[in-house]
Amino acid sequence: MSRKAVIAGSGSALPKRRVSNAELAEQVETSDEWIVERTGIRSRYIAGDGETTATLAADAARRALEAAGIDPSEIGLIVLATATPDQTFPSSATKVQAMLGIDDCIAFDVHAVCTGFLYALTVAESMVRTGSADKALVIGAETFSRILDWEDRTTCVLFGDGAGALVLTAEDGDRGILATRLHADGRHNDLLYVDGGPSTTGTVGKLRMKGREVFRHAVVNLAEVMNEVLGAAGLSSDEVDWVVPHQANMRILDATAKKLGLPAEKVVVTVNEHANTSAASVPLAFDTAVRDGRIKRGDLLVLEAMGGGFTWGAAAVRY
Ligand code: UT7
Repeated sequence: MSRKAVIAGSGSALPKRRVSNAELAEQVETSDEWIVERTGIRSRYIAGDGETTATLAADAARRALEAAGIDPSEIGLIVLATATPDQTFPSSATKVQAMLGIDDCIAFDVHAVCTGFLYALTVAESMVRTGSADKALVIGAETFSRILDWEDRTTCVLFGDGAGALVLTAEDGDRGILATRLHADGRHNDLLYVDGGPSTTGTVGKLRMKGREVFRHAVVNLAEVMNEVLGAAGLSSDEVDWVVPHQANMRILDATAKKLGLPAEKVVVTVNEHANTSAASVPLAFDTAVRDGRIKRGDLLVLEAMGGGFTWGAAAVRY
């Protein structure tokens, strides 16, 4: 038995405003039929006044702490994955720290776009396992609605806002995060990027994506990294109870499960309700499936994501 980072609790938060495909079709030339057929998305949540990445993150974190039965003062580490921070600096993690009333802990943001949560989880897991902190908050939170070009129908229908959080604690035993694997290939910058930034245009910029090409890479990379992480944990795909994937497109979820020989019933799907919430999507899907009873203690899970960079990664977890 060795010290492991275990998931002690989860929480999530969504903006108040739910936007249907029909509502979007009033703004851009699209239709509910096209969006559902090509993506599986039926609605998304869009942040309003007073709702930001940090406020959503703090709400998700409070719910995760409550589920874990842990007081904020016990947290020694906050790692927050986001590509849409409240400010260029300081980190949104430190804003969340202040909102939770934590006087002193390690707090920083991780930026790997849609794979951000897998990167944050890997960093936090390693810091908990090796003793930098005993209790950690790992958060994925985004307000992509604020970097969308609302006149570009090829991107604006795909994304939504939200946050998800996990509390990790250290435990000696068999359960916990068993293995993680991360990748990046920076040659694909121009397939998925934001056309602005502090050091280039001095503006925030808007999201741009060549969707069809991203799709092609996603299916190949995700199937590979899921096999890789299962191999690293000494497990086979038929032992998996649930895949908790990044929620980008229903067709990607189906194609990836098929490649691994996993039945569709073992894949947690929330893209229909939340759309693509980038770094928030994996913990948001995880928390949804824990709270509705799909994911149970003892289940073997594979978390996976792929996004801008490109970046991609996976984690094998005994919950
Ligand atoms: O989270 C990071 C990872 N991101 C992803 O994984 C996204 C990956 N990509 C995708 O999910 C899909 O490629 C999309 C959903 C973005 C697009 O689906 P597609 O089947 O690849 O469609 P397409 O881009 O090939 O476009 C097909 C047609 C085009 O018209 P033409 O050129 O055939 O006349 C588009 O102009 O659909 C048109 N189109 C739309 N029509 C109605 C594109 N967006 C829309 C829209 N409504 N919103």
